[in-house]
Amino acid sequence: MTKSKNIVWHDSEVAKQDRQKQFGNKSCIVWFTGLSGSGKSTLSVALENELFKRGVAAYRLDGDNIRHGLNNNLGFSPDDRTENIRRVGEVAKLFVDAGVITMTAFISPYKADRDAVRELVDSGEFIEVFVQCSLEECERRDVKGLYAKARSGEIKNFTGISAPYEEPSKPEIVVDTERQTIKECITHIISELEQRGLLTA
Ligand code: ADX
Repeated sequence: MTKSKNIVWHDSEVAKQDRQKQFGNKSCIVWFTGLSGSGKSTLSVALENELFKRGVAAYRLDGDNIRHGLNNNLGFSPDDRTENIRRVGEVAKLFVDAGVITMTAFISPYKADRDAVRELVDSGEFIEVFVQCSLEECERRDVKGLYAKARSGEIKNFTGISAPYEEPSKPEIVVDTERQTIKECITHIISELEQRGLLTA
């Protein structure tokens, strides 16, 4: 749905494929989803680092960071979360067009919102990574101290406690941060990206 009228699409003369060739990699969205504290940000930082070392054009969009700027007018109601993911999806799509492997680390609790992002890009360009970790373990880690606040009622609508998380039904990749080390998860993700031919142009 577009609010503005009288707007006309203007194509670039440089195509996505031209950029990919120049960078030496394909581009896609590596969409991390999982509970707060499951390890999405940690994994996306490690993956960005590893891809950068290999000379791959890679960039990371992180929930907490994006909420400081682009999405600083959004909270955690269902509608705001949906809008959060919609905007991030659109930004990630631009990055894919720019030839960049784009990692996103957002809880993205609603399946329909993630599926809508999948629809934004070409087939094979949306790699959903389910960062599996039990609520008990996330709560035990409580890296940011937010689960304690959610339990005490200080934070309302907290994912896993007082707001839902819908697990992906067919994610391209599953990592389990309770059973695998960060390094093992990254090795697994890299090999999946390699197998899909995404790390070469
Ligand atoms: S999402 O649900 O819209 O995808 P997003 O990933 O952007 O969430 O932001 C989640 C981060 O915001 C959490 O890791 C946590 O640090 C913080 N946060 C603050 N309040 C909440 C809440 N009510 N539910 C979940 N996360 C929250």
